[in-house]
Amino acid sequence: SFSVGIVGATGAVGKEIRQCLEKREFPVSQLRIFGSERSAGKTMPTEKYGDIEVELFDVAKARECDVVFLAVSGDFALEHAEAICKGDDGAVVIDNSSAFRYKPEIPLVVPEINGKETKKSKLIANPNCTTAIGLMAIWPLIQKFGCKRVIMSTYQAASGAGQPGMDELQDGTRVYLEGGTPENSIFAYPLPFNVIPQIDKFQENGYTKEEMKVTWETRKICGLADDFPVSCSAVRIPTIRAHSEVIIMETEKPVDIKEAQKVLDEAPGVKLVDNPDELAYPMPITATGQYDVEVGRLRKSLVFGDYGIEFFVSGDQLLRGAALNAVLVGEEMVS
Ligand code: HSE
Repeated sequence: SFSVGIVGATGAVGKEIRQCLEKREFPVSQLRIFGSERSAGKTMPTEKYGDIEVELFDVAKARECDVVFLAVSGDFALEHAEAICKGDDGAVVIDNSSAFRYKPEIPLVVPEINGKETKKSKLIANPNCTTAIGLMAIWPLIQKFGCKRVIMSTYQAASGAGQPGMDELQDGTRVYLEGGTPENSIFAYPLPFNVIPQIDKFQENGYTKEEMKVTWETRKICGLADDFPVSCSAVRIPTIRAHSEVIIMETEKPVDIKEAQKVLDEAPGVKLVDNPDELAYPMPITATGQYDVEVGRLRKSLVFGDYGIEFFVSGDQLLRGAALNAVLVGEEMVS
């Protein structure tokens, strides 16, 4: 079994990584939690490993671990990740930030798709939540029907901005319902009873960085061409922690919806929820807290005819979108 470290375990993603490690029975001999001066010395209660004292992060201590999960900012990861894993005695590092995702030499991994890549590097990048959730359905359909292009529209929960995002939504909703004006510092505008068609910074091409992440990461993880057409519109909505996505794929082969349902039903990490007669379809309320991404509303595309499929997914942003994927990568790396 392995000595495992988490950097940023007090944040929303770090907390879920710790819980996934406990629930999934990752072979942990010792769990170490590293934090900033603010949290060092505090005690973190865990179900399986008792109370753990948060240690002040330093590279030498992190290198003593076999596996280190980074659930911190991209700047922190850029500064320390390579130093933690350098050399034969360095740790294996799984980074949840976007710092290394687009570097050609660093694997970007969704274990069900390109898990083998974990053997190529001691530093692995964990994808953006929106990409990881969407690909659980897109990948099995690409394998079955081929794909010419993908168009995605997202409905993203407050948790994408971490615990402060969830707090801002919940506190703001309370203020709004009591007749006040919600404040906002995390989101560009108040999120309660609103939708915001901007996540992350605008790029020169008019897309936001969140939207471009879906394009870049889908290509890299699925091994598609550098100019493979993937287009995303990313929108923040006032749900707590499950992202939803409308996905439209133009396929190379004609789509049979029954076959598509079967492929998805058998795909790892997917829960098919697709029965219009019983009003069964994916929703954040049912996807929250679940490892599997819900997929439903499958239908042939009126735009692409037989050569297209449209569907809806909901997945827990903190689990498949972040912590669960990271822990699955870790399992793959130590297997
Ligand atoms: N960028 C995502 C969001 C979270 O804001 O919803 C990233 O994993």
